[in-house]
Amino acid sequence: MSQQVRAVVARSKGAPVSLETIVVPDPGPGEALVRIEACGVCHTDLHYRDGGISDDFPFLLGHEAAGVVEAVGDGVTDVAPGDFVVLNWRAVCGQCRACRRGRPWYCFNTHNARQKMTLADGTELSPALGIGAFAEKTLVAAGQCTKVDPAVSPAVAGLLGCGVMAGIGAALNTGGVGRGDSVAVIGCGGVGAAAVLGSNLAGAARVIAVDIDDRKLETARGLGATHTVNSKETDAVAAVRELTGGFGADVVIEAVGRPETYRQAFYARDLAGTVVLVGVPTPEMKLELPLLDVFGRGGALKSSWYGDCLPSRDFPMLIDLHLQGRLDLDAFVTETIALDEVEKAFERMHHGDVLRSVVLL
Ligand code: APR
Ligand code: ZN
Ligand code: ZN
Repeated sequence: MSQQVRAVVARSKGAPVSLETIVVPDPGPGEALVRIEACGVCHTDLHYRDGGISDDFPFLLGHEAAGVVEAVGDGVTDVAPGDFVVLNWRAVCGQCRACRRGRPWYCFNTHNARQKMTLADGTELSPALGIGAFAEKTLVAAGQCTKVDPAVSPAVAGLLGCGVMAGIGAALNTGGVGRGDSVAVIGCGGVGAAAVLGSNLAGAARVIAVDIDDRKLETARGLGATHTVNSKETDAVAAVRELTGGFGADVVIEAVGRPETYRQAFYARDLAGTVVLVGVPTPEMKLELPLLDVFGRGGALKSSWYGDCLPSRDFPMLIDLHLQGRLDLDAFVTETIALDEVEKAFERMHHGDVLRSVVLL
């Protein structure tokens, strides 16, 4: 058995996405069928459309999603039909060397649904990040579903599935930001703004937001940045040092993913401080640093994969904090749109007009 639903598909490299009818199989063993309620538009979806991730067209886009489980396959015990869930792209396997060492947030063997969703003519689809949620329904591995409090708005919940979790996790999990720390966040788009919010949640004493766009700095201030630096006008390293007694920040979070901003992060950090790279570079980028500075400045240079999150631990906790009014996640939803407006949302994202456009289904 299977069903037909409407979905946003990228058929070929660089071409505008199209609304298509797709075929979604009933869940097999270990799988779950989810009726999508909301899905955020992320840069990664645009990268898929533009062929920047792989050539496995056609892609079923969308991956920052929340919805309700409609059916589950054999052997699924963690979620049941009717559960409100946030989808994640790291279904922890429990068996790989990372999981066995008690570090499941690094799971090296994460899995997706085994059965393929297809176009009406039978062409297999490649779901973005193993999710594919610009669709009325999608098929995922049950481990990709994390049950959360259904009182939350689906638009907000879905964002935790990717960019917002990456940013909050970069601060909390990877950076280990703690009470009284000074933090600088370079790049305050959706991910960086979430890192500002996470640093604030962790009790950082100073949160310095750095961006080249004043609109982003204003949003960052609303999320708890204590200082803002427009690095188009001011030298970012000098400014962060000046705002931290001449020393640099304890933790610097790089949320752009470029060599020049990484270098800023490296030098805007205090001795023995931590750099967290959460921005994703492209294959041709190279970084050059004096090795003596890498040694002499000490501390830790870390990368943050998906905010080093553990969905089962982090999603329900963050949503509870949000529902208690202690974590302003509403600020990330700039606009809600319909399924046929994804292409327009890419345009606005490209111009930096939004933190997130969220498709409501
Ligand atoms: N210095 C400072 N800020 C910069 C610079 C720069 N040289 N170049 C760009 N920015 C800012 C932009 O103005 C924007 O506010 O970085 C921000 C990037 O934000 P978005 O484009 O909204 O991207 P976001 O979704 O936040 O993702 C950021 O993290 O997960 C990765 O793939 C993602 O690499 C991307 C990064
Ligand atoms: Zn994403
Ligand atoms: Zn694993």
